[in-house]
Amino acid sequence: MFEDVPLAPSDPILGLTEAFKKDPNPAKINLGVGVFTDSNGKTPLLNCAREAEKRLAGSAVSRVYLPIEGDPIYRAQMQSLILGADSEALFTKRVFTACAPGGTGALRVVADFLKQNFPSIKVWISNPTWPNHTQIFDAAGVRTERYAWFDPIGNCLDFGGLVSTLEKVPSGNAVLLHGCCHNPTGIDPTLEQWTQIAEILAARNILPIVDFAYQGFGTGIEEDAAGLRVLASRCRNMIVCSSCSKNFSLYADRVGAVSFLCDDESMAQRIGSQVKRVIRANYSNPPQHGFSVVASIMGDKDLRTMWVDEVRLMRERINGLRALFADTLAGKGIKQDFGFIKRQLGMFSFSGLSKEQVDELREKHSIYIVASGRVSVAGMNEKTMDRLCDAIASVLR
Ligand code: LMR
Repeated sequence: MFEDVPLAPSDPILGLTEAFKKDPNPAKINLGVGVFTDSNGKTPLLNCAREAEKRLAGSAVSRVYLPIEGDPIYRAQMQSLILGADSEALFTKRVFTACAPGGTGALRVVADFLKQNFPSIKVWISNPTWPNHTQIFDAAGVRTERYAWFDPIGNCLDFGGLVSTLEKVPSGNAVLLHGCCHNPTGIDPTLEQWTQIAEILAARNILPIVDFAYQGFGTGIEEDAAGLRVLASRCRNMIVCSSCSKNFSLYADRVGAVSFLCDDESMAQRIGSQVKRVIRANYSNPPQHGFSVVASIMGDKDLRTMWVDEVRLMRERINGLRALFADTLAGKGIKQDFGFIKRQLGMFSFSGLSKEQVDELREKHSIYIVASGRVSVAGMNEKTMDRLCDAIASVLR
């Protein structure tokens, strides 16, 4: 049966981690996958999570199946985290939220939901975007199109191109936006630009889907939700796929959520019934542990304060590494200006390195970077910065 099944290409991001693990060079550097590392090169378990786990371990009782949509306490906490505790949509109960296994699981639930309820819908994704976006919608049989995003000359948002694409998107289609810390470019719209985007989507009856995986890694937990909240204030129907992988440093626990903003409470119930059908046919119901950890942190004043502080420290570290990377590169006598790295936000920057330069960095220096040239600044380290920049300078010459 299996004889003719071909070898699949390795994943552009997670496949790099596999190759990195096999590399025997002790000086290897992984800037592929978006995973935060501290000054010791380790991905920490946050103190707030460690404390929450201690408390949970002391009170563990039973492990029966959760409801299809998951823990109600976590779901309510996620709604206020993304939409704001004072959100009108929450007071009027017009939001349906389900737990999802990470941001990827949330996106897959959305893709299946769209395919089942809007079989001819197209989802417009940014050019460039996280490579898994295309795969997820393809796997569900949902067609995708691209909208303009990146201006490689100015290393900034191609806002004119973005607006002119959005003005051509047919009514009834969906547009997938990155809520903050765009992956891979690290470029976010300003609040005025978000308002313009929201107005175009609302006027043209286009459904916004927001991929919100880095809340707190840009400028702040509340600040990073500002664009999404502008969209929510203009577009009555909207979907948000959120993730706690990065901001709670719970990558392996697959903690995410999918939220549907509806016209009113009864529509939220109808939409919820369809979302539950999708989940039941996919993974039945969510796991418990990671969601309980997040719920315990969010539900306890002291743990929550500790979390806000730990997110701030991760954000400040990334911003510090951005500056150090750009300054160290500038000191290497290269002609290219990498100053834009300091202006970008979140874990990633689009370095402009070509596929050939990326290959050379991996083959000659054991430095792992995604083929598109995306670098995970969050994976850099001050101790190896000089070596990293020497290697990059050598491939640029
Ligand atoms: C990334 O973009 O590196 C992360 O979101 C991890 C992943 O699943 O690709």
